[in-house]
Amino acid sequence: MSKVISFSIFKGGTGKTTSTVNTAAALAERGKRVLLVDLDQQASATRYVGIDPDRINPSLYHVFLKQVPANVIKQPTAFGFDVLPSSSLMAAIEESLERGDEILLREILRPLRDDYDYILVDTPPGKAGLAFNGIVAADLLIVPASAERMAIDGVSDLVNHVQSIIWHRYRDELNEQEIRILFTMYKAGTNHSPGVVQATKKIYGGNVLDTLIPETVEFPRSFDMKMPITVMSPHHIGAQAYKRFADWIIQHA
Ligand SMILES: Nc1ncnc2c1ncn2[C@@H]1O[C@H](COP(=O)(O)OP(=O)(O)OP(=O)(O)O)[C@@H](O)[C@H]1O
Ligand SMILES: [Mg+2]
Repeated sequence: MSKVISFSIFKGGTGKTTSTVNTAAALAERGKRVLLVDLDQQASATRYVGIDPDRINPSLYHVFLKQVPANVIKQPTAFGFDVLPSSSLMAAIEESLERGDEILLREILRPLRDDYDYILVDTPPGKAGLAFNGIVAADLLIVPASAERMAIDGVSDLVNHVQSIIWHRYRDELNEQEIRILFTMYKAGTNHSPGVVQATKKIYGGNVLDTLIPETVEFPRSFDMKMPITVMSPHHIGAQAYKRFADWIIQHA
């Protein structure tokens, strides 16, 4: 039975999509059966793996709202893992979700859980319904936080994210859920990034992952090339970092 791992934080542009795609590729390279779910109407993960979201039909819209089974819309990628792509109809799902529908994704994924070792979910930023669906479906919640772009007191946003939403509102659904903070865009050789990580460790201790994803232009370049960095530049420090993170997942989950 697969582990569902969601990459989620309300703040935009922290490396959620980059982490989901590159971790999926690194796990697939290790021989794991992986499904990536793109819940974001921006469809960045779908584009990253070379799929045009405007040509998806049926789509997650039909899975969420028309009882189409998820495996009907599943597509292979060139990188050894499958994807449930986002489409231009994602906004319509968001509009149709009601309170209590946070559990839908978990139900949708249930029939697929024997087919994969890991299901990785890329969630949109913000506090809308699909983001909550991603959080509630997760056995392991990864919170990607940008070490370089976050202020030292930005740590308190992280605290709010975790405490107000995860630990209170969804306490019943999430009592088995684990949570880890993954620092992305980490700049060594300056005071700022290490300071942010240290300040966060003081609050979260062992929930902060030791693997730090470096800040490097190879990541936007890999998005432009529509190829995970682990495939495009396998020996680059950015690729090595996601491979170490994938190894942590394999050992841990
Ligand atoms: N480690 C990194 N170093 C440098 N640039 C990065 C790194 N990780 C991601 N980026 C770049 O930062 C931008 C935002 O990354 P990404 O799309 O992964 O964030 P996101 O959290 O998914 O954003 P959104 O909240 O909009 O969904 C992209 O241009 C991406 O290529
Ligand atoms: Mg994203």
